[in-house]
Amino acid sequence: MKLKDKVIVVTGGAGLIGAAFCRAISAEGGIVVIADVDVDSAQNISDLIPNSTAIQLDINSKSSIEAVIVNLHKKYKKIDAVVNNAYPRNKNYGKHFFDVTYEDFCENLNINLGGYFLTSQLFAKFFKQQNYGNIINISSIYGVIPPRFDIYVDTKMTMPVEYAVIKSGLIHLTKYMASYFKSDKIRVNSISPGGVANGQPESFLKKYANYCNSKGMLDPQDLVGALIFLLSDDSKYIHGQNIIIDDGFTL
Ligand SMILES: NC(=O)c1ccc[n+]([C@@H]2O[C@H](COP(=O)([O-])OP(=O)(O)OC[C@H]3O[C@@H](n4cnc5c(N)ncnc54)[C@H](O)[C@@H]3O)[C@@H](O)[C@H]2O)c1
Repeated sequence: MKLKDKVIVVTGGAGLIGAAFCRAISAEGGIVVIADVDVDSAQNISDLIPNSTAIQLDINSKSSIEAVIVNLHKKYKKIDAVVNNAYPRNKNYGKHFFDVTYEDFCENLNINLGGYFLTSQLFAKFFKQQNYGNIINISSIYGVIPPRFDIYVDTKMTMPVEYAVIKSGLIHLTKYMASYFKSDKIRVNSISPGGVANGQPESFLKKYANYCNSKGMLDPQDLVGALIFLLSDDSKYIHGQNIIIDDGFTL
């Protein structure tokens, strides 16, 4: 029980990875807040997880984030950590480089990286008053290395330029905040997962796996060990680090 009675907010907690994070936090004795813009899905997931609660949160809305903080503080008297994991993207997200308009590029950066900034800023304000806190940002291998475009050949998929900029920016935002909050007992770290299997074409999975050690694309469950470690006191003195979990893909 590494997270006994810790109150932990997971943004995008109703998604593919977020739901696995929430189950793992609960299994370690934490009180998990499934905070998602899609509150119905969050509630469905919460119904299956002991010690969990669903709450509507839009990481692009200052008033929404502030309301969540006020509610949780009232209910639990404390918030131990926030996991920035939501994945907002606009309707044109996912295009090839020459098809990305300036407007879409800017909008996706705003809603994603901007949302991570806003959530971190408002939670950090609360953590400062509380005198401790823990922020974990979910980045990606594509924040660490440039895309391996060869694995996308013959598929409809690509690695969007916005994603690379958002995720690399997020790793540096993590280090910036870790340094900025050094004397405030607020820790900030990031996790950079490799690709998670979710119905991608077989040919893609094969090419991806050629870059890996033994598994290739991961399951959400493969990511939870690092999350629990960073949320727990086992990582008490770890600040501003980025943990890559990718079965060797980036090597
Ligand atoms: N899936 C992968 O292969 C992979 C790999 C590396 C990193 N990641 C990262 O992991 C995180 C989670 O990804 P996922 O695959 O689980 O995504 P997902 O699309 O399955 O889930 C994202 C969740 O975020 C919620 N969301 C969207 N906009 C929001 C907003 N404005 N406010 C609050 N919640 C909002 C959605 O409702 C959804 O429940 C993301 O940061 C993603 O970039 C994913």
